[in-house]
Amino acid sequence: MRARAPRASGEITRGTTGHNRLRRADRWICAVYGPLLVSADRPLVVDLGYGASHVTTTELFLRLRRIRPDVEVVGVEIDPARVAAARPYERPGLSFAYGGFELPVDRPPLVVRAFNVLRQYDEARAWEAWDLLRAGVAADGVIVEGTCSEVGHRAAWVTLDARGPRTVTLAARMAGFGSPGDLAERLPKALIHRNVPGERVHAFLRDFDHCWAVAAPYAAYGMRPRWTAAVELLAASWPVAVRPPLGGRRRWRLGEVTVPWEALAPGGGSGQVLYTT
Ligand SMILES: C[S@@+](CC[C@H](N)C(=O)[O-])C[C@H]1O[C@@H](n2cnc3c(N)ncnc32)[C@H](O)[C@@H]1O
Repeated sequence: MRARAPRASGEITRGTTGHNRLRRADRWICAVYGPLLVSADRPLVVDLGYGASHVTTTELFLRLRRIRPDVEVVGVEIDPARVAAARPYERPGLSFAYGGFELPVDRPPLVVRAFNVLRQYDEARAWEAWDLLRAGVAADGVIVEGTCSEVGHRAAWVTLDARGPRTVTLAARMAGFGSPGDLAERLPKALIHRNVPGERVHAFLRDFDHCWAVAAPYAAYGMRPRWTAAVELLAASWPVAVRPPLGGRRRWRLGEVTVPWEALAPGGGSGQVLYTT
């Protein structure tokens, strides 16, 4: 009798995906973790929960191969039918596997990208998934867990390492929103229910919207200068990353802003106060 494959950790959820949907996160991963991938011995990257098509995993593979030509990428999906549908697209360095949060790969990955996966779980389960993923990555490994709009114009993600959550990034196409607060609907699961008065993430988005309004005159020069000016104003009272690779004008011009996790972490209080001493 053949042994049954062990049950993967997690649930099959909607498989919605699309070409180029995750380009903002991929661009950021290349900029921020490129040096880590370049310096590592046999770097392995997992794309967890790639959905109904192989496409975003293949795009990640092609983008990472530009900076590390021998990087290996494994798309992991908990729906066996989606694994079967992706397998014809395998090529040297790119493969697809059945599994879940336990990360069924032959060595601990250096980077795990999980996009639009945990949003379909409840908040407590999302925190458990974070713990499982953190236990599965390489000692210096990272997890990029986020959410985006259907076509990827609005996105938000958290990075985690062995110690816990490290940063939160918001990213938007310049024509893709009215004010930065519109990104609230794309917050990762651990934060989306915390966008209420008294929580740090709520105060942050409120202040970002205020800075956006103050920076309105910059719109005469375009949306990028306005975003950059708004982030510079925000950095006066919030611990915005201001230096590369996480911050600075080059990143802000792309419609990004990154802050430490602690600044927005659930639990109430002002993220500003944490950083004024
Ligand atoms: C909405 S799709 C996201 C596809 C792609 N990542 C994107 O953002 O376009 C979510 C996928 O995650 C898969 N999934 C959910 N939980 C998972 C788990 N624990 N391990 C692996 N895949 C999972 C679902 O089956 C689904 O195909």
